[in-house]
Amino acid sequence: MNTSVDSTPAFIEATYKKMDANIATVRKRMGRALTYGEKVLYGHLDNADDAELVAGSSYIKTRPDRVALQDATAQMAVLQFMLADKNEAAVPVTVHCDHLIRAQKGAESDLNIARIENREVYDFLSSASQRYGFGCWMPGAGIIHQVVIEQYGFPGLMMLGTDSHTPHAGGLGAFASGVGGADAVDVMVGLPWEVLHPKFIGVHLTGELQGWAAPKDVILNLLGKLTCSGGTNRVFEYFGPGADTISCTGKATICNMGAEFGATTSTFPYDEHMATFLAACNREDVAQVADKYKHLLRADDEVLANPENYFDQVIELDLSTLEPHLVGPHSPDRACTVANMTQYVKDGGHPENITYALVGSCTNSSYEDMGRITVMAEQIAAHGAKLKIPMLITPGSEQIRATIERDGQLAKLEAIGATLLANACGPCIGQWNREGIEEGFRNSIVTSYNRNFPKRNDGNSGTSAFIGSPETCLAYAMTGSFTVNPFTTEYTAADGSTFTLTPPGKVDETPRLKLVRDDKGFLAPIDDRTNITVQVSPDSERLSLLTPFDRWNGKDFTGLHLLLKAKGKCTTDHISPAGPWLRFRGHLDNISGNMFSGAVNAFTGEPGNARNQLTGELQEYNTIAREYTAAGENWVVVGDTNYGEGSSREHAAMCPRHMGGRAVITRSFARIHETNLKKQGILPLTFADAADYDLVQEGDTIDLTGITEIKPGSTITARLNHDDGTTSEITLNHSLNEEQIDWFKAGSALNFLRG
Ligand code: F3S
Repeated sequence: MNTSVDSTPAFIEATYKKMDANIATVRKRMGRALTYGEKVLYGHLDNADDAELVAGSSYIKTRPDRVALQDATAQMAVLQFMLADKNEAAVPVTVHCDHLIRAQKGAESDLNIARIENREVYDFLSSASQRYGFGCWMPGAGIIHQVVIEQYGFPGLMMLGTDSHTPHAGGLGAFASGVGGADAVDVMVGLPWEVLHPKFIGVHLTGELQGWAAPKDVILNLLGKLTCSGGTNRVFEYFGPGADTISCTGKATICNMGAEFGATTSTFPYDEHMATFLAACNREDVAQVADKYKHLLRADDEVLANPENYFDQVIELDLSTLEPHLVGPHSPDRACTVANMTQYVKDGGHPENITYALVGSCTNSSYEDMGRITVMAEQIAAHGAKLKIPMLITPGSEQIRATIERDGQLAKLEAIGATLLANACGPCIGQWNREGIEEGFRNSIVTSYNRNFPKRNDGNSGTSAFIGSPETCLAYAMTGSFTVNPFTTEYTAADGSTFTLTPPGKVDETPRLKLVRDDKGFLAPIDDRTNITVQVSPDSERLSLLTPFDRWNGKDFTGLHLLLKAKGKCTTDHISPAGPWLRFRGHLDNISGNMFSGAVNAFTGEPGNARNQLTGELQEYNTIAREYTAAGENWVVVGDTNYGEGSSREHAAMCPRHMGGRAVITRSFARIHETNLKKQGILPLTFADAADYDLVQEGDTIDLTGITEIKPGSTITARLNHDDGTTSEITLNHSLNEEQIDWFKAGSALNFLRG
């Protein structure tokens, strides 16, 4: 029985040996040099001898080394794992209690409230972890991605996480992907992880960041160029002399936000910065093993010499020319340099008043980040000045918090007016109990987080969130306004003189005294687990044990009601919003009350409701779906492009399935969500002709034929029965392979697994 969830040197060495063997097999088959990302991916193939390896088209089966679950998504993942009837997970699994802690007054009081408010969820996750041999990081220990790189990450690691920013570990050379709970459950029960073979994009970095530019600006700049869907089914591999100038945690920030363009993952090859970071985490032994296997942990020399021959695309970026950026509002690809922000905000009609600066989160709370803004705080304090607006800091882990307390950064930041929040997601996931504003209050905030969809941070539709580096956010906390450039404007000192901020320059990327070691919040797996009972109260409103979905009845679908035709962006935040709904993540029926509440109805241009085809009334989507179910009828959703982008939450697929959805028809899907729909037994279909989206009318019912003969590459015919008695017939494509078709027939992937 394996009761260790640690990435021990022995575990890592065994991983490298397996990688070495697999890579040798693939190299022989392909007869060419390999990129670093290919080495890690192919090194983890389930069947290196005969896997079809065609980027962009073949599905490959891999064997990830470990799984990480955050508390919001862990609830459903663990409930699904329980349905599989196993005694322990097949790979090391850790659970991280970070998403459910609300930010209100400050770290200590918020944490105490969270422990009371979420007790039943924490009891469930900790008891399930003890029962099944998972490691469990209790509230206050830190945010999943920071804890993972401090405790478990290593170069060459292949990992799945039920959080879309899992690629953060790419900063430490991992191939880490964000997935839905169902994919994680596959790996936990011993099945391979099946994924569309990604294309590989090389990002060749030259030069070195100058002035106010930070690692964050690398990814913000790329987001502006590539847009939110520019990374779908792609792995971003950063390399070149510029890569060697960025710290391990700076690399992690870049990889983290690759999720914003939908990348399968992003990664950097092993280098000295990673070894330095491992040493700071008291894991020098891991760096020693990595040093032994360096040949596996970087691209082959031929690739570095002629990258355009090996990558599907090479993007050149000269770091020396990068300027500080902000992206927003409402989409992370709306990039603008700080120098042009005043005009951008004016032209866009965005609120000029900045009311809060939010710094930290999984994305940007490294020792180096805190060090750079502390240099700015010292400049401000030296002039007897203070921040103009509140600035909240969310450290990524207790180790980081304790270290910046020990080394003095925290006190200096608090001295200019910053407030420390708990080591948790807090405002990054809408868990911000922001007081003193009314819904619709128009204002802007600046954050060093990674997402800025409407309502993402404070639940207020009037808030426009702009994302920048911690340095940029702190600078705007001095102005409280977009009307000036915070890097050039003059501030008034206590004695009436004026001063400007100067770039912080190089600071220590890791603490000289190492990170303060702290695993007090860790519940380690135990040996004797037989007597542990997983705690779920039958009358809980937050948790409910799952029952399997019904099997497909073997017939084509006829008379499906059109529940929703979504217009424009329809992310998983639109399909299954977070914020106050996070409390129901472990209760499928209750959380279904939020289904599609953020999706914009193409016929009204408004979010939240549609016409009930049975009654003609305008009602919330979830109410209509329940009425269709009560009438024994099913429904379909139509979406636009990149439907389901954003978070990996499988609730966005499970809720529609639970509420009677049978198919989702779109112009295109985001990768993770399309897989999640397949896992839950919903057919994801795409218009063969994207223009056919326009043929769908408000009162339509839809017949889908060709399902009875469905096979890889086949088409489905949709007959749209319009209100006026006319019909339109259109062709739909699907991307299900043989196994995924079996999932659909069984009713879900988990049903298929149970047999
Ligand atoms: Fe948490 Fe925000 Fe990161 S929700 S995991 S801090 S993206």
